[in-house]
Amino acid sequence: MQTAKRLELIPPYLFAELGRKIRAKRAEGIDVISLGIGDPDAPTPDVLIDEAVRALRDTNDPDRHRYGGDIQVAEYPQAVAGYYQKRYGVTLDPATEVLTTIGSKDGIAHIPWAFIDPGDVALVPQPGYPVYNIGTLMAGGESYIMPLRAANNWLPDLSAIPADIAKRAKIMWLNYPNNPTAATATLEFFNEAVEFARKHDILICHDAPYSEIAYDGYQAPSILQADGAKDVAIEFNSLSKHFNMTGWRIGMAVGNAKAVAGLSLVKDNVDSGVLRAVQFAGAMALRDLPDYGAEISEKVYKPRLQTVIGTLNRIGWNLEMPKATFYIWAPVPDGFGGSSAAFAEHLLEKAGVVVTPGRGYGEAAEGYFRLSLTYPDHRLQEAMERIEKALK
Ligand SMILES: Cc1ncc(COP(=O)(O)O)c(C=O)c1O
Repeated sequence: MQTAKRLELIPPYLFAELGRKIRAKRAEGIDVISLGIGDPDAPTPDVLIDEAVRALRDTNDPDRHRYGGDIQVAEYPQAVAGYYQKRYGVTLDPATEVLTTIGSKDGIAHIPWAFIDPGDVALVPQPGYPVYNIGTLMAGGESYIMPLRAANNWLPDLSAIPADIAKRAKIMWLNYPNNPTAATATLEFFNEAVEFARKHDILICHDAPYSEIAYDGYQAPSILQADGAKDVAIEFNSLSKHFNMTGWRIGMAVGNAKAVAGLSLVKDNVDSGVLRAVQFAGAMALRDLPDYGAEISEKVYKPRLQTVIGTLNRIGWNLEMPKATFYIWAPVPDGFGGSSAAFAEHLLEKAGVVVTPGRGYGEAAEGYFRLSLTYPDHRLQEAMERIEKALK
């Protein structure tokens, strides 16, 4: 039996090797603290759980167990539109400019099927969420890497994209607030990106699942606030991080109607939508708890940020508090030859703590590592104590 050539295009999963090492350590009886993955530890708000249970048990809704794609809950796209209006002053037509997705990953993985033909190019930031590249490759396209560098505040340098590449490009991926670098983008940058996309007839796919995880009143802009953005942009967002709902699988694709329709057609043929009860809970989240992300940022993540950055700065780093996301992106300290893998290995061996080596996100990210704050306070505290000892 021969698997498809397509599978050979997929590089080893970022966390697979790390996962193997963690399992080996745990098998030796070592208490490994993994700060590797960004999956909120706090539970989903009770009111949303109650709403989902209500909807599941609602005998007045004969469709409650049925395909959520065919019989959509109108309240969800309406709540998305209401949220964009209130949060960003962006008006969306719930029928043509909003699509319910199975988390944002679903939209990200499937949009290339609607816009990339074999030989077409997607402009992909590096470091970046691996699905931008893999989705492109699966659709038969090629990724052109836009390196993100500290010197440019982790923004791509659009003027460095060669003219022939811009001509072949169909999609440009952006992601702010950014995973893994925690960088943010200004509306001014989004305006530049939109202008670039209009000039070269490119669809901007802006991935924004950390837009609500922000500190000290910072509000991340939506790309749809940029002038003329709806002509060339689609934005992906998600309830995963804002409402501690990663496992529920609900998100949104919003913006350019042609892009929304294209993605919708692909999805009609590969999935059957989101469970209705989850759509009801999602609608309630966006309608009734729009500030929940900002609240957990202040109450849950900010104290953790202070703990981690406080420790790292005490032992030699010079990090600033990020404006957004629950990630800390930091340079590998001296003594490891700039190798993020060697540093991560050292922390696993000496401290039993897992951090994500930047190299796993591609060459442009070498020399850095990422730490996620989605772990209980006492475990983070302990991880910091162990790291401090291991680096003495
Ligand atoms: C940058 C980025 N985009 C998209 C996702 C996917 O999130 P979800 O599918 O849960 O919305 C993640 C998850 O970690 C992410 O970090």
